[in-house]
Amino acid sequence: MKKVKVLSVFGTRPEAIKMAPLIKEIEKDESLESLVCVTAQHRDMLDQVMDIFDLKANVDLDIMQKSQTLTDITTRALIGLEGAFKALKPDLVLVHGDTTTTFAAGLAAFYSKIAVGHVEAGLRTYDKYQPFPEEMNRKLTTALADLYFAPTPYSRNNLLKENIPEKNIFVTGNTAIDCLSLTISDEYEFMEKSLNHINFEGKRIITMTAHRRENIGEPLEAICKAVKRIVEDNEDIEVIYPVHSNPAVRETAERILDGNKRIHLLNPLDIKDMHNLMNKSYFVMTDSGGLQEEVPSMGKPVLVLRNVTERPEGVEAGTLKIAGVEEDKIYEMASTLLHDEKIYSEMAIAKNPFGDGFASRRIVEAIKYHFGIINERPLDYTVNQLEN
Ligand code: UD1
Ligand code: UDP
Repeated sequence: MKKVKVLSVFGTRPEAIKMAPLIKEIEKDESLESLVCVTAQHRDMLDQVMDIFDLKANVDLDIMQKSQTLTDITTRALIGLEGAFKALKPDLVLVHGDTTTTFAAGLAAFYSKIAVGHVEAGLRTYDKYQPFPEEMNRKLTTALADLYFAPTPYSRNNLLKENIPEKNIFVTGNTAIDCLSLTISDEYEFMEKSLNHINFEGKRIITMTAHRRENIGEPLEAICKAVKRIVEDNEDIEVIYPVHSNPAVRETAERILDGNKRIHLLNPLDIKDMHNLMNKSYFVMTDSGGLQEEVPSMGKPVLVLRNVTERPEGVEAGTLKIAGVEEDKIYEMASTLLHDEKIYSEMAIAKNPFGDGFASRRIVEAIKYHFGIINERPLDYTVNQLEN
């Protein structure tokens, strides 16, 4: 029988991390042919993931430019993808999440009349500009897709409310959780050598990341100022901040946080270092989407450096709290976590509403079901459901 050609398209670090376990699962299946096209909207941060998971691209569009605009990414990806689709002739294009690569790949596939499968479908804040441009990217991708792999029942319900046909939605869990079993280990030695000298037993370590487009400028300044105050006021605290490669993020982080011995600004870490670092930390502060999914299963509190989240399942589970982007509020919430043991332990409960490690397997089954290779629809991933 002719194999179904599945082309995974991605361009940034988080897409690559969350597509990696799925690509491995597609490669294992004899009825599917796995193809990969990277836009390389990110370059060094993407290559770091490709290397660690040993992923190879059939086509690399190499579109990244320094300080690129959304229009740069969209147009360069769209033009490149048209050629890639002509050359590779996929039966299905898989896109992930909500980046501009995701949207451009969905649009390019639609123009070429190729079916689109959307991994991590149905996340919403229902606020057009938060996160920007991700909320719009995922809504537009919903409009362009044919198959929807919703990570949780909550995201499935968002899609149902938007009249997406039930038969096209599969609840799979999040592939980010599939990754965790591949990365975390007890006696871990960091590739980033400086982390092997951190006193994880004697100090309380806060890991932070902050890079979102809507936080660049004043909000990121406020975040960094709050972090600086937290470190200055608590001698047993050290902060580790692997800084995104975006020059605008680096400039602010370095200007405000450089020079304090208990604040460590690092280059982007590889995913194994990152997961093991978070697993050894006291708590995490972040504006990242991926971290909000990963950290709840490590039993560490997370302060979310945003005004809204599209991942309310983690708030409901008690691990995530929205700290916003104002200096005083972030400072106060972090201080409470540091000094109130009851609040800390209420948040530090390992709960994982985002997946059970089998999301990739379910997505492969759903693809095979869609193409008539198997007759049985895969069972949905179920968790205690948050009402929406
Ligand atoms: C992008 C996604 C965002 C995702 C984030 C994950 C869009 C619009 N944004 O945001 O949804 O959460 O990735 O990190 O799709 N750069 C490098 N090397 C790299 C990567 C980036 O130098 O490997 C620099 C470049 O100057 C680039 C800039 O960072 O122009 C911004 O990158 P870009 O992909 O446009 O936006 P992100 O903020 O990374
Ligand atoms: N991550 C990483 N190295 C880092 C920072 C983050 O490997 O230095 C991982 C993190 O564990 C998660 C993903 O990258 O899996 C999140 O990506 P990012 O923060 O770039 O994007 P977002 O989640 O905001 O879309």
